[in-house]
Amino acid sequence: MNPWFTHTVCLECGHQMPPDIHLSTCTACGSQWLDARYDYEAVSKLWPSSIKGRDRSLWRYVELLPLGEPDVEITMGEGYTSLTRLYSYEQIYQHEHLYAKDERQGPTSSFKDRQAALSVMAMRRAGITECVLASTGNAGAAYAAYCARAGIKLWLFLTSLVPSEKMREAALYGAEVVKVSGTYDETKHVAAEFAKRKGIHLDRGAKAIPGKESMKSLAYEMAEQMTAKLGPDSTGKWRAPDWYIQAVSGGIGPLGVWKGFQELYQMGLIDHLPKLGIIQAAGCAPMVQAFHAGAETATPVIPKTLITVLATGDPGPAYGLLRDACLTSGGTMLAIEDGAAFEAMRRLASKAGFSVEPATAVAFAGLESMLTDGIIAPTETVIVNCSGHTFTAESHILGDQYVLDLQIQNGEKRTTQQTPAIHEGLDAAIRKLDEQVTSILIVDDNPTDRRLIKRLLQRYKRYRIDEAGNGAEALHAIRDRQPDCIISDLTMPEMDGFAFLEMLKMDPVTASIPVVVISAKTISADDARVLDQYSESVWTKGGFDTRVLVDHVVTMLGHSLDIEESGEVRAVRPLRRPDTGPLTSGQMISIVAVEDSPDDLRLIRKVLEASGPYKVFSATNGRDGLKAIYEHKPDLVVLDLMLPDMDGFAVLDALEHDHRLRDIPVVILSAKELTAAEARRLEQHAVLMVPKAQFNRDEFLARVKVILG
Ligand SMILES: Cc1ncc(COP(=O)(O)O)c(C=O)c1O
Ligand SMILES: [Zn+2]
Repeated sequence: MNPWFTHTVCLECGHQMPPDIHLSTCTACGSQWLDARYDYEAVSKLWPSSIKGRDRSLWRYVELLPLGEPDVEITMGEGYTSLTRLYSYEQIYQHEHLYAKDERQGPTSSFKDRQAALSVMAMRRAGITECVLASTGNAGAAYAAYCARAGIKLWLFLTSLVPSEKMREAALYGAEVVKVSGTYDETKHVAAEFAKRKGIHLDRGAKAIPGKESMKSLAYEMAEQMTAKLGPDSTGKWRAPDWYIQAVSGGIGPLGVWKGFQELYQMGLIDHLPKLGIIQAAGCAPMVQAFHAGAETATPVIPKTLITVLATGDPGPAYGLLRDACLTSGGTMLAIEDGAAFEAMRRLASKAGFSVEPATAVAFAGLESMLTDGIIAPTETVIVNCSGHTFTAESHILGDQYVLDLQIQNGEKRTTQQTPAIHEGLDAAIRKLDEQVTSILIVDDNPTDRRLIKRLLQRYKRYRIDEAGNGAEALHAIRDRQPDCIISDLTMPEMDGFAFLEMLKMDPVTASIPVVVISAKTISADDARVLDQYSESVWTKGGFDTRVLVDHVVTMLGHSLDIEESGEVRAVRPLRRPDTGPLTSGQMISIVAVEDSPDDLRLIRKVLEASGPYKVFSATNGRDGLKAIYEHKPDLVVLDLMLPDMDGFAVLDALEHDHRLRDIPVVILSAKELTAAEARRLEQHAVLMVPKAQFNRDEFLARVKVILG
C-alpha cells in the first residue's frame, strides 16, 4: 500500500475512513462514491524534482496513486502517452495552442488502459480471481487484457450494439463475453445482478477508488508535458492547460482529471485549474441537458445514438460532481450530433493524421464548435483527450461460441422510467443467461455421435458445448474451460473412458464434475463397479429415449426441460408457468379452456381435473374466453383456434398486448389445418400446438405438467 495515501472520504456525507482501496461503501451512509486522500504536503516536497528520472508511464506519479508500486507482472507501461500539437487545426481556426493527448497509444488503444491497470492490480491484491464488468466497449477490452495478465477470469457484459471487433478482441484475451440486447444501463443492471447471484466481484467503475484515481494520471502528465513544451510559467510552476475537453459517457475520465488538477493546484504545482469541456453525443446527453437546464441531478434518457461507446443514459451522481467542476472552473457542457461527429472524424484523419473512433471524434467536433462559437478564446491552451482508436481482432481463430447472446425481451414501449416490464425482461434474461453459461463437454471418438448428442441438447437448451475425441483431448479442453457436466464414451483411442474418468476423479479440481456415460460397450461387472463410483448414469448407445436422456442431463444441471419439440407438437419459445414461486401442496392450478364444442370442452375438463390439482374454467367463444382469462389470471390457457365471435388468433393477440397476460402459457388444441401464414402467426406467440386429430390423453397431460413447471 502507498504510505502517502492517508484516508478515504465519502463523497456524499464526508465521512472519513482508513486508506483502503478495497472499501466499497461508506461505513456511515452506505454511499458507494468514495475518494482517496493523500498527504499532499509531503508529496509537494517531492514533486516535481523527484519525478524527473522516472519511467515514462503513469507509475511515475506513484505517490498519488493508491496502490503504491505497480505489480510488475501486470503493468504494460500504461500512461505517458504523447501530447501532440494540432498544427493544421491551429491554422484553420487561427489559434495557437491546440493539443491532442494521444490515448490511442495505450496497450489496448484507449484511455481505459489506465483504469484497467489499476483496477486489475487492486483486484489481484485483494485475492479476487473472477470479476464482472459492464462496458460500452473500450473498458472491456482493456480489462480483458489486464485480467489475462493477472490470471483473473473476466465476465464482460456488452450491449449488442458494441462492434463485433471489440467483442472479439476481448474474447481473444480470454474474457467470457456476454452480449446483452438492451441499453447500456440495462446491461449494467444485468451484470450487477449476475455478479450478485454468482457471488462474483463486480467492478464499480467511477465509484471505486482505483478507477478514478487512475485517471488523475492524465492531469499530471498533461501538466508535465505542457511544461516541457512551453517551458515553466513565469512563477516556475508546471503549466495547466486552459481547457480540458473530453467526450463523456459515464464521466470517469473528467472526474479523475479534475481531481488530478485540483491536487496539483492544492500542492502549489499549477497556478490555475483548467476549464472542463464535457462533450456528449446529442442522442445521449443527459448531463448536457441537465447542465443547461440548471438542474442539480440529471434525468436518465434512453440513448438514441450510433456512438454506442457514449451510451450511458443514466449518469447518476457523476453528473452532480462534474456539474460542480464545470461551474467552479468556468467550463461548459455541449452536445454533438452523430453526423457532425463523423465529419469531425474524417477531418481529424485527413488534416491531422489521427484515425480515431466515433466516440473520440465527438470531443473533436466539440472542440471545433467551441472554437467557432468563441467559447474558447484565441490565446487559450486546449488539450483534447484523443481517447481511443479501434482495430480489428483476428476473427477466424475464435470459434463461433465466443459470445453469449442475451436478449432482454421487452415488448413495452421504452420510457425513461424503469418499467416493471423491463425488470421482468431482465429477470427472464438472467435466467436464460444461467443456461447459456452452462457448458458441457462431449467426449467421443465418433464425430457423428458427438454432433448428434450436441444437436439433441441444443435443440432444447442453449448450452455451450465443447467436444473432444478422446480422454487426453478432453483433459486438455477441461483445462481451457471447466465444464459443468461431461458426457463421455468409453471405447476411444489413446486414452479410453475409464482412464479418463480416473484422471478426472483423482484431480480435486475436476473430481466433482458430473459425468454421464453413453457407450456401445458391453459393461462387465468390473466396469459397472468403476462406473458406479465415477459416473452419474450409464446409457447404451441407440437404446434409450433421447428425451429422457436430455431430461436427465438438464435436471442434473439444475434446470428444467421447458422447451418442447418433437414431431407433431412444437413450441417456439420457452413455455413455463410464470415464476410466481413454488406451488404449495393443496394449492389449485387454474386453467382456462376456450372451446366452442361442448363435447371437447367436457373432455378437456375431465382429463385435466381427474389428473391433478387443476381447476378448469371454461368459455365457449373468444370474447368470453378473454374475459375469463382477465378474471382468473390462470396458470395455463387451452385454446381452440376456430371460435365464434373472436377467433383464437385474436385472443392470442389480445394476450400478447397485455403485459400481465403475456407470459401465460397457451396450448392450442385445434383441428384447423394451418396455412403457412397462420403457422407464422402462432410462432410469434409462446404456444404449444396440439392437433386435435393426434390428441393423446397421457401425452397431453405430460406436456401440461412440463409447462406448469
Ligand atoms: C474512446 C472513449 N472515449 C470517451 C469515453 C467516455 O469516457 P468516460 O467514461 O470518462 O465518460 C469512452 C468510454 O468508454 C471511450 O471508450
Ligand atoms: Zn457517506
